[in-house]
Parts: sequence; structure tokens; C-alpha cells
Amino acid sequence: MIILSVETSCDDTSIALIKFPASKRRACFDILANIVSSQTEIHKKWGGVYPTLAKREHQKNLIPVLEKALKKSRELKIKNYKPQIEEKKLKILKKILEREPELLNDFLNFIPKIEKPKIKAIALTIGPGLEPCLWTGINFAKALAFFWNLPIIPINHIEAHIFAGFIDKINFQDLKIKIFFPAVCLVVSGGHTQLILMRNFGRYKILGETQDDAAGECLDKTARILGLGYPGGPAIAAEAEKFKSSDLNFKINLPRPMIKSKDYNFSFSGLKTAVLYEFKKRTPQIRKNKKYIRAVCAETQQAVIDVLLYKTLKAAKNYGVKNIILGGGVTANQELRKQFEKKIKKEIPGSKIYIPTLEFCTDNAAMTAMAYFFHQKEKKNWQKIKAKADLRIG
Ligand code: KG4
Ligand code: ZN
Repeated sequence: MIILSVETSCDDTSIALIKFPASKRRACFDILANIVSSQTEIHKKWGGVYPTLAKREHQKNLIPVLEKALKKSRELKIKNYKPQIEEKKLKILKKILEREPELLNDFLNFIPKIEKPKIKAIALTIGPGLEPCLWTGINFAKALAFFWNLPIIPINHIEAHIFAGFIDKINFQDLKIKIFFPAVCLVVSGGHTQLILMRNFGRYKILGETQDDAAGECLDKTARILGLGYPGGPAIAAEAEKFKSSDLNFKINLPRPMIKSKDYNFSFSGLKTAVLYEFKKRTPQIRKNKKYIRAVCAETQQAVIDVLLYKTLKAAKNYGVKNIILGGGVTANQELRKQFEKKIKKEIPGSKIYIPTLEFCTDNAAMTAMAYFFHQKEKKNWQKIKAKADLRIG
């Protein structure tokens, strides 16, 4: 059975086609295609994601990304006759895509010309995320669902990030057995920082979350202060990697916000402000010094890792959990991955940690399709789907 999934919650336009094994004994899920069109270049000059600009890019990207995904999965078949759309059908399509004129144009130029692919349903991110971006993906999926007569399964983006760690590692059958539960999940991205207790598939409780900026957002803003590129996470990681403690004759000390608070919440906006003060108090020569920038990057990255690791460990120990699941763009950070693996193994004997393969850390539609597997019965008619920018898990 093949599922098509659509993800446009932030600045990546992604479509995947995933084949679920017919026999539950078969190994991994088959990723026929997982196409991600990144808008990084567009948002670089703003130093962050600009929602209306991101929406426009999704409108432009969706049909080309779908075409690539269908081609890659060998599901693209051009009709050998001239397609005709009935007036009534055309009117409904125009209504669905009335706020996406460019996408409507592309849709009408492409979809009627191809045969309906062998897909059974559409898994669709409905939130949380940037509302204008979510709506473009939703309207597109609605138009496809209407045209090809397919059900839509609404997917929570945070839950998709949680499943990203299983995509290419776990056997179908293992996924269904309860051996993994309870688990503690840490989802850290540009828009979210949440610590979640997972009692089973579909059963979640948010233990804590950021009170202001997300961890990735803090890295993005810090990179902007330091004059590094966007996205900030990878730029900071690259500089931090080059840092040697012998490089500077003074030490940089940044705070670990809320590390000792009794709850599981986070706060990262103070860290970014501390970097700003640290930077401002230096002379222009020091600010331009590469070794100084590397030192600030290494300390910022370590401050973020320290807080995330401390709170995740605390939650795992307090809830007697042996399974830790990480997800989200920030988990692409090599230093974070290394330190989590090492510390968790040491502090919780017999524990297991699931970290997504790099390509599944940042936003992608393969993880959206994975979440579909546990929500197959929640089919919805396309008319009923709405964007939920503040959707919560649990
Ligand atoms: O999950 P994601 O693609 O989008 C959201 O849902 O937000 O995460 C993007 C975030 C950005 O803030 C980016 O700076 C961060 O993930 N990021 C990283 C790395 N790669 C991406 N942060 C630290 N180290 C990385 N290697
Ligand atoms: Zn995300």
C-alpha cells in the first residue's frame, strides 16, 4: 500500500511516497521518494523564515516537488489522450485553490494530464507550524484528494518528528510491540522545543516546553548576531568544530537557562541575549577575530546541549524510562548526538536512544507518512480539514 504525504509546516516543501509492507513481518518501510525543496537561500537575507514569502515558495514548489516524487517512485504516467475536466469539477478545484492562484495554474497544467498514481491516502501535516504555510499544503492536498478521490489523514508535525527516528531503523513488527514504552521524546527544531512522555503510540503527555524561543531559533538568532549564515544551527556547529581551547586567552561563559528549575521547561531567549551582551562588550578587533567567533559558537552550542541533555535525563530518570527518542532539526547537530548517546548510555544502563538519520532530522514528508501508520483509521473528508497552527500533542 502506497501513501503520499505532504509537509509544508515551515520553509521546506516536501512530498514523500512510502510503501507500507504488505506483510507485517517484512523489514523496513519502503521510501519510494522523499523530496525536500529547501527555501534556505530565499530566507538567508532575512536571517529567518518570513511566512508570507515561505507560503509563496510552497505555492511554486508543490507541483514540481510532486512531479519529482512521482518520477522517483515510478508512479508518473502521462495520459496518452487529451484530458478534459468537467465544468463542475473545475469550479470546485478553483474554489479549493482560490487563495493559491499560482498553484491552481500549475495544478491544472499538470494533474489532469497524468494517470492517478497507485496511492491509497494522503498523509498531511495540519499543524503545528506557520499558518500561511500549512494552508498552502492543505489546500494542495485537498485539491488532490478531491481530484483523485482519496481520503486525507491529518498528521501532527511534532508526532512526525518523533517517528523520524524509526523510519529506516525499525522493523514493522517491532514498532507495534510495547517494549519501547514508556519513552521520553525530545523534539527540538527551529519552531519547537518540547519534552514529551510517550506512553504508547498516540498517547503523549507534554512534560515541558520552551517558555520563549525554541532551541533552533536561539541558534539561528545567535548566528545572526555573530554575522554567520542562515540556518544558524549548522553554521554555529561548523564554527564550534574548529574551536580549540588554546585559541583564546580568556574564557567565555554563557548561562544555562532554567537548567536547575524544578520543572521540565526551557528558556532560550536569555541565552541569545547573553551572546549579544558578550559580543557587544568586546572591541571591534576581537569581534572580527575568527577564533573568538569559534569560541562563542562552541560555548553557545554547549549551553544548548547541556540544558537539553540535563532535562531529558532528569525526565527519563524520574519516570523510570529506558527509551529516549530525539527528533527535529537541532538533532542533526553532531556534538549533541554524540553527547546524548554517551551520557544516556552511561547514566541509564540498558537504555536505548533513537536519533533520526541526518536526512530525517529536519522537516521532511517521509516522517509525516510514518505517523500515518498509527492513524490509518482517522480518515477525513477533504472538506473538513483545517490548519491548526498551535496544534498540541497529547
Ligand atoms: O525541524 P526543522 O527543519 O524545522 C522546524 O520544524 O523548525 O528544524 C530547523 C532548525 C533550525 O533552527 C536550524 O538552525 C536547526 O534546526 N538545525 C541545526 C542543525 N541543522 C539544522 N541545529 C544545530 N545543528 C545542526 N547541525
Ligand atoms: Zn519541524
